[in-house]
Amino acid sequence: LFTGIEVAAPIEVFHMNKLYLDSTDPNKVNLTIGAYRTEEAKPWVLPVVREAEKKLAVDDSQNHEYLPVLGFEPFCKAAVSLVLGADNAAIKEGRAIGVQCLSGTGSLRAAAEFLGRVLNYKTAYMSKPTWGNHNLIFQNAGFTTVSAYRYWDAANRKVDIDGLLADLEAVPLKSVVVLHGCAHNPTGMDPTQDQWKAICEVVKKKQLMTLFDIAYQGFASGDPDQDAWAIRYFVSQGVEMIIAQSFAKNFGLYNERVGNLTIVVNDPSVLAGLQSQMSLIIRANWSNPPSHGAKIVHMVLTDPTMKQDWFDAIKTMSSRIKDMRAKLRAKLEELKTPGNWEHVTKQIGMFSYTGLTPEQVDYLVKKHKVFLLKDGRISVCGLNSKNVDYVAIAIDDAVKN
Ligand code: PLP
Ligand code: LMR
Repeated sequence: LFTGIEVAAPIEVFHMNKLYLDSTDPNKVNLTIGAYRTEEAKPWVLPVVREAEKKLAVDDSQNHEYLPVLGFEPFCKAAVSLVLGADNAAIKEGRAIGVQCLSGTGSLRAAAEFLGRVLNYKTAYMSKPTWGNHNLIFQNAGFTTVSAYRYWDAANRKVDIDGLLADLEAVPLKSVVVLHGCAHNPTGMDPTQDQWKAICEVVKKKQLMTLFDIAYQGFASGDPDQDAWAIRYFVSQGVEMIIAQSFAKNFGLYNERVGNLTIVVNDPSVLAGLQSQMSLIIRANWSNPPSHGAKIVHMVLTDPTMKQDWFDAIKTMSSRIKDMRAKLRAKLEELKTPGNWEHVTKQIGMFSYTGLTPEQVDYLVKKHKVFLLKDGRISVCGLNSKNVDYVAIAIDDAVKN
């Protein structure tokens, strides 16, 4: 019954992470996975998350009953407020709801299935390049056309805004467009505010179904409010949308699978149908979401002191990443590594799209045990003051050879 199953290609990011873990080289460096690391190259439990966990552990009113299908409502409300801003008109007018899902991935999957099954969308457009999982999620959700709009101008290492706008202008009617809310993965470059305004114009003109994916709120600027600017601008322009939020990175809750879908509509009377259909999608997928992480996020976002501690933790993470960008660039410039390395500090969020070729990446992995993705993406979180010079010297060697 199980004969003939083809062995699929490995999932690159996890495969490279495993090669790093398996390496016995004492100098090995892990620049693969987008997960925060401290100066000591260790995962970081945010102090405010630890505090929330302790409070929950001694709270005898907590239990392990099922959550409702659409999740822990107070968490959903807090997540909606975080992305839209508590005073957003869409919230005040009852036009925005939240649905708890399994981190960013589950949120995207539920959104894709909902758009496909309930609203009959079959065509979706992602940025080129995009996060490795986007295409697979939409294909598996039954979309027959999963295509791309231009995003990256590799020669000038900036957003190809003319290509992007032209491609969105040309997409067929009834298409979904996936936009990265901030800190674009993998390029680390977001549109400017003026460019977002131009994108919004096309979205409105073509009546595209907008799906914002925001997995790094706080990591672009260090300020979660500022990082939601594009989404809030689109909402202010009357654009209806779905927003997939992940709390993996900005709360360091990677394995707790905390996510939320925020849905913004213009006519609140559609919400009853929407929620009932979304319930069926979720019922058939995971029935109801896990509770622990959602309780933590809810507690932190609704307690002003804890929320401030969270802002501070985000600042700690984003500042360390920024510092590492500066150190990497400075060392490459000191070594006179051929090429221009300005983009390393211009790019934002967790990643730098280095521009290294697949051959150079291969060389870095094999010769220096510096692990990164084939497209040249590095997770800047993997750098620290002990390994940044080693990585720069390795890159220098790879570029000169
Ligand atoms: N969207 C983007 C752009 C990502 O980089 C990620 C990666 O973590 C996700 C969504 C969702 O991740 P998770 O399912 O771990 O929340
Ligand atoms: C990454 O891009 O490295 C992370 O978002 C992890 C993942 O799931 O791909």
